[in-house]
Amino acid sequence: MSHTFLPRSLEALSDPVGGVVDASHPMRAVVKGAAFDDGSWTGSRAKKVAELFDSMALEWKERVNEGCSIVMDAFDRVQFTTERVLEVGCGTGEVMEILKGYFDEAIGIDISLEMLRKSNSSSTELLNCDGASLPFPTSSFDAVVIVNSLLFPAEIDRVLKVGGTCFFISTKGDGTPIYLSPYDVRSALGLNYEAFTAASGNGIWTALHKSK
Ligand SMILES: C[S@@+](CC[C@H](N)C(=O)[O-])C[C@H]1O[C@@H](n2cnc3c(N)ncnc32)[C@H](O)[C@@H]1O
Repeated sequence: MSHTFLPRSLEALSDPVGGVVDASHPMRAVVKGAAFDDGSWTGSRAKKVAELFDSMALEWKERVNEGCSIVMDAFDRVQFTTERVLEVGCGTGEVMEILKGYFDEAIGIDISLEMLRKSNSSSTELLNCDGASLPFPTSSFDAVVIVNSLLFPAEIDRVLKVGGTCFFISTKGDGTPIYLSPYDVRSALGLNYEAFTAASGNGIWTALHKSK
């Protein structure tokens, strides 16, 4: 399947919110392990990640969310079905507010209960669970959106309908702590996906259409 790199349409802003990190950041190994299913995503790792983000929830809610404009840039430039979307790792819910404007139904999940508690979304739209084991039937979403969160490819592939689209967004490009390169994202999801990538603002997005 193909991977097309599109020109940038959203210019970079001033300094990225919260600064950038390099490839030695400890979250990088966590993200890669999850994406390539090396067995490292254990119950104790899940608990540690949840506790880490629980402790950051208050500060997170007060940050400017750079993901919103990058998500809109991706949505403006690729075709996708707008019925039902899942956001994995929705945090304090800023991107969820954007998704509600594009889709008939939006559901967000996060492993951190404290992050969800800071969200403005209603409790029917949010679920506290692990993206590695989603409580949804097979083929139940037209789109999955992941902004600066972990990719669990087997679960995304399971819940995404054929013809659906996965959007993977890193708001600080390769300076994002929870980062996978566009090549890794595509390779993790496998050969049934056709990918489109563009640099956008301070970040990068990849949209992956599931063909079968
Ligand atoms: C860097 S924050 C990004 C939050 C939000 N997407 C944003 O852009 O503001 C990463 C989020 O992913 C969540 N997360 C990490 N691992 C997860 C998992 N296995 N399942 C669900 N959520 C997870 C964290 O709790 C946190 O809210």
